[in-house]
This record gives sequence, C-alpha cells and structure tokens, in this order.
Amino acid sequence: MSINANAATTAAATSTRIALITGANRGIGRATAMRLARDGFDVIVTYRSHREEAEEVVREIGQLGRRAVALPLDVSRVAGFGAFVDGVHDVLRETWHREAFDVLINNGGVQVAQPTLQATPEAFDQLVDVHFKGVFFLTQQLVPLIANPGAIVNISSGTARFYVPERAIYSAVKGAVEVLSRYLATELGPRGITVNVIAPGAVATDFSGGMLRSSEQLQKHIASLTPLGRFGVADDVAGAIAALVSEGNRFVTGQRIEVSGGVHL
Ligand SMILES: NC(=O)c1ccc[n+]([C@@H]2O[C@H](COP(=O)([O-])OP(=O)(O)OC[C@H]3O[C@@H](n4cnc5c(N)ncnc54)[C@H](OP(=O)(O)O)[C@@H]3O)[C@@H](O)[C@H]2O)c1
Repeated sequence: MSINANAATTAAATSTRIALITGANRGIGRATAMRLARDGFDVIVTYRSHREEAEEVVREIGQLGRRAVALPLDVSRVAGFGAFVDGVHDVLRETWHREAFDVLINNGGVQVAQPTLQATPEAFDQLVDVHFKGVFFLTQQLVPLIANPGAIVNISSGTARFYVPERAIYSAVKGAVEVLSRYLATELGPRGITVNVIAPGAVATDFSGGMLRSSEQLQKHIASLTPLGRFGVADDVAGAIAALVSEGNRFVTGQRIEVSGGVHL
C-alpha cells in the first residue's frame, strides 16, 4: 500500500517533473528527495524496511507544497519488480494523472565489508543482487515508464576508482554499474534519456554501520586526504544530483561524476 501526500490535489500540472528515488527514506536518498522537492520536483520515495521514515519524508515534501508517494521496494528481489512497476503505474495515474515519470535515481543499497581473500559467496551474492542485478533489472522494467526526455542517475562509489580495504566486491559491482550506465546511455540516447553516474566519496550517513559518522579519527583521516579538507555529507551528493538532472542540463550523458571533495586525486 502506498503512502500519499496531497493526494486530494487533482490538478496535475503536466510540467511538474517526477523523480523516483530508491532508498529515499534516509541518507543520500532522503537528502536527494528533499533537495529535488525544493527544486520543484514531485517524488516517488521507495524504502525497504523503514516505512515510518518514508512516511516522514512524504510528509516533509508535502509541507514544501510538492506531492510525494512512498512505495516499498527491495532492489535485491527481482521477482518483486513486476508488482512494484504496477504500483508505480497506479500511483502515477492516481496522484499525477500521468503515465510516466521523469527521473530515476538508483540509490538504495547496503555495504558488506570483507577482506578479499576471505570473502564469502553469500556476501558476493548479496552485493551483486542489491547493487548490480537489482539496478539492471529494475531499470530494464522501469524504462517504459520514463518520459522522453528523461534522466537516469546511478549511484556508484569513489571506491570504484580508488582502493579501500575490504571493499573489493562492493567496488567491483559499483564498477559494473558504471559500465552499464554507458551502455544504457548509448541505447536510451535516441529516446532523449540521459544516463549518468554519481560516485560519492565518504559520506557520513548510516552506511557501513554509520562508521564515518561515529569515528572522529576516520573523519580526520579522510579530511587529510581530501583537497576540500573535509568528509562528505548527504546534501553534498544531493546537490550534485540536482544539478545533473536540472532542466537546463540536457546534453550530459554516459558520464561519471565523483562527489568526493577530490579525495585521492
Ligand atoms: N555513505 C557513503 O559513504 C557512500 C559512499 C559511496 C556510495 N554510497 C552509495 O550511496 C547509496 C546510498 O547510501 P547511503 O549512504 O545513503 O546509505 P544509508 O544511509 O545506509 O541508506 C541506505 C538506503 O538504501 C535502502 N536500502 C538498503 N538495502 C536496500 C535494498 N535491498 N533494496 C532497496 N533499498 C535498500 C535503505 O532502506 P531501509 O532504510 O528501508 O532499509 C536506505 O534507504 C548506496 O548505493 C551506497 O552504495 C554511499
């Protein structure tokens, strides 16, 4: 069942752009949902397990005078994507009287840190399912619902470019998403759909058990390696995504943009 803000509003302005963000109940996804709402977007917020957080995001977006709907989604469960896509179709019709949304942001995910030589097949499968197989097949199934022109933003990681211990599987699947993004950019270009990658550096969220947020030592270490002299916060990434999908930015596709303060240049 979906959670709906301002559902009573029936006059759907066809010019309002709609973004669908996976894992938007907290962290980078939440910050992006709020930022895009402030920029005039309506938002489909997905959450895996924290429905109450998603409800709060929907409420706050409603307070900004924008519309939002929350839908549950586990991106590692490809078998559930058909029902999810049907749900997106339903909320587009019910809430916006539309058949398509404008921007897909593949963001939701988890970290599993293991030393490469001791990594388990279970961790491998989990990371592939969430960060690559899920992104691949969810995008495949949602593309028919993306407007022309539209945009897809896939969230990778700085670690697909530079080394961090115990991140081999995670970083390799993020690298796979970067390659996929260039293929999608080529195939969807004729429809006017851009496909780009945002690769965050270390961002203080709940990710990796909130490790960065809780360790002053790690914060100082990352700041010392970073030209801009600090670690990242979710709003840094949200601002970059907002710039990438802004109305005037229609000729950038197939690109990877790192949002890391220039760490390890
Ligand atoms: N934070 C960093 O340092 C950093 C750096 C580089 C890249 N990234 C990437 O940025 C993205 C967001 O990370 P974050 O820092 O915002 O993490 P976060 O604060 O831990 O939030 C993760 C979000 O993803 C959702 N999620 C987790 N597993 C999911 C699944 N199987 N299906 C659907 N949604 C799922 C969570 O939903 P629930 O709360 O409902 O479970 C939550 O909304 C991830 O792709 C991550 O790899 C993060």
